[in-house]
Amino acid sequence: MNNTLALIKPDAMQKGFKDEIRKDIMDNGFIIAEEKTLHLSVEQAEGFYSIHKDKPFFEELVEFMTSSETHIMKLEKANAVSEWRNLMGATNPAEADAGTIRAKYGTDISMNATHGSDSNENAEIEINFFF
Ligand code: CMP
Repeated sequence: MNNTLALIKPDAMQKGFKDEIRKDIMDNGFIIAEEKTLHLSVEQAEGFYSIHKDKPFFEELVEFMTSSETHIMKLEKANAVSEWRNLMGATNPAEADAGTIRAKYGTDISMNATHGSDSNENAEIEINFFF
């Protein structure tokens, strides 16, 4: 078993997709080992996404991620990082394969419904950030 961190972002929460996304996750064989809903502070959003602090979209990202609640989950499955990234689809919902979470629930490259860790090393860092 491996772990990854998954977020249901403010856009998907605001649109009421939390339960559908949780169901997609469980239907695809993940165990939700821990979960909580938080309204992220600016400090939490900046800290969580500090790897992107020099990117042109950083301010927009922090503003979006602090706009309302985020649902935070520790997922368990064999190859959890790649399995969750495959289920989410491409970062930009316009490029995500049909049937993926971002294709179904995302709006644009900023408001893209969900987040997932990109490596086992970052999964450990991101899980420890919130749990
Ligand atoms: P996520 O997988 O959470 O990781 C970083 C986030 O930054 C990404 O999803 C998007 O929400 C956001 N992002 C990435 N690229 C862009 C971009 N070009 N413009 C705006 N937001 C972006």
